[in-house]
Amino acid sequence: MTSPDVPHTAEPAPEALDPSVLRPRLPSPLQEAADERFARHGVRLLLKRDDLIHPDLVGNKWRKLTPNLRAAAGRPLLTFGGAYSNHLRATAAAGRLLGLETIGVVRGEELADRPLNPSLARCAADGMRLHFVDRSTYRRISEPGTLAGILRAADAEEAYVVPEGGSNPLAVRGCHALGEELRGRADVVAVACGTGGTLAGLAAGLAPDQRAVGVAVLKGDFLAAETAALQTLAFGGRRGTWTVDTRFHFGGYARTSDELEAFADDFESRHGLPVERLYVAKLLYGLVALTEEGAFPQGTTLAAVITGRPFS
Ligand SMILES: Cc1ncc(COP(=O)(O)O)c(C=O)c1O
Repeated sequence: MTSPDVPHTAEPAPEALDPSVLRPRLPSPLQEAADERFARHGVRLLLKRDDLIHPDLVGNKWRKLTPNLRAAAGRPLLTFGGAYSNHLRATAAAGRLLGLETIGVVRGEELADRPLNPSLARCAADGMRLHFVDRSTYRRISEPGTLAGILRAADAEEAYVVPEGGSNPLAVRGCHALGEELRGRADVVAVACGTGGTLAGLAAGLAPDQRAVGVAVLKGDFLAAETAALQTLAFGGRRGTWTVDTRFHFGGYARTSDELEAFADDFESRHGLPVERLYVAKLLYGLVALTEEGAFPQGTTLAAVITGRPFS
């Protein structure tokens, strides 16, 4: 129950805060995808359909957010993201569904004076209070003094704070279940990485004879270290067998190319899978390239985690 001094716009019923009332589809389906680009190298491709877990808390958002929603225990939930953040949209939807106040701290003060883009408009329609901050402040949000200033300015000093991308230890532990669901089902499990939180939990949940591959969607070589750091925070040390491939970012976060767009369109028509462009398209493209390079021995069963769905 919420303490009486915490400001609320809507007082949620305590039982409504248990995300299991939202009836997630768990374990998520694991589907065979017949694709000759894999089959001719002796690789069997499976799609782990986390995008089907819940219509609003899609994919890794369900796995990362629900432990935090429970921990928030009715306090307003404040989190961070860019103007097109999947994480902000999922948090706003969770707030609507569970009767929880949400505050989204958005990168880019200049956006405050413009009409909201469709993603932020959805957040606002779901009841999220948007608080815009300039980019240099945003870069320092993990510093305690900066965070305290933002919480004060957003009138949210009592809020439960979830970091950008949602990757805190609770979220990483939530993704452990994804690995557990795949035990005995695949030799290699691949996932797209932004913060590395999903990979960190997934790899920890797999059996010892399985390994995980992360495909980074951001440019740079920091993701392996961040994933290891998240595993240490969540589990006390490095867990499971995993690597990060940093070659398939297409120029960086939200960057794309005609080739990647054509690849994603073609994958959609081959498999009837709506391909989310910021993460999932880069993952699938990377897996075709890795298979062609011979990264997976003949006889490998490869599961690709479909962590999201296109925003519409
Ligand atoms: C669709 C999708 N896939 C993958 C990821 C990457 O997850 P993580 O930040 O845990 O690496 C995200 C970001 O949260 C995402 O929105």
